[in-house]
Amino acid sequence: MKEVKVESTFFVFDDLKDIPSDVQQLMQNASEARDNAYAPYSKFHVGTAILLDNDEVVTGSNQENASYPSGLCAERTAIYYSGAKYPKAKILKMAIIAGSTKNITSKPIPPCGACRQAIAEYEVKQESPIEIYFMGETGKVVKSNSLANLLPLLFDKSVL
Ligand code: THU
Repeated sequence: MKEVKVESTFFVFDDLKDIPSDVQQLMQNASEARDNAYAPYSKFHVGTAILLDNDEVVTGSNQENASYPSGLCAERTAIYYSGAKYPKAKILKMAIIAGSTKNITSKPIPPCGACRQAIAEYEVKQESPIEIYFMGETGKVVKSNSLANLLPLLFDKSVL
């Protein structure tokens, strides 16, 4: 038996104004998308904006359903739309902003496991890393240079 350690590196910015200006703009796009979240059940609103290598920005927000599992997270709404509309474009950056309407969320909210798996699919498909930035409504912004940092021991097409 041997122990295997997996390391992940993240970068933490104290404030939105500390991140690169193009990502500030992308986070603004995510924030506007968040305004369109449909989350009457959880009251947790999430917005995502994706910057593609064709300069297009695709956004999404979480969309809930009375049949709870039928709803979809903001990240997957955005990434599937991006894949559907611009199948040849590469995803460069993804900005995520999230928080409850019941209180101010100031801690960075990472994508859920299912969204990580979905983002991983596109990172593998395009053979280049996707930069991911996530935050609460205010406060620190976390950056990951690749989805791989968020999802070690990936299940991908190589195992099929
Ligand atoms: N949600 C997202 O949109 N993204 C995530 O990564 C985590 C959760 C949504 C799903 C649901 O509408 C609400 O947040 C509460 O889980």
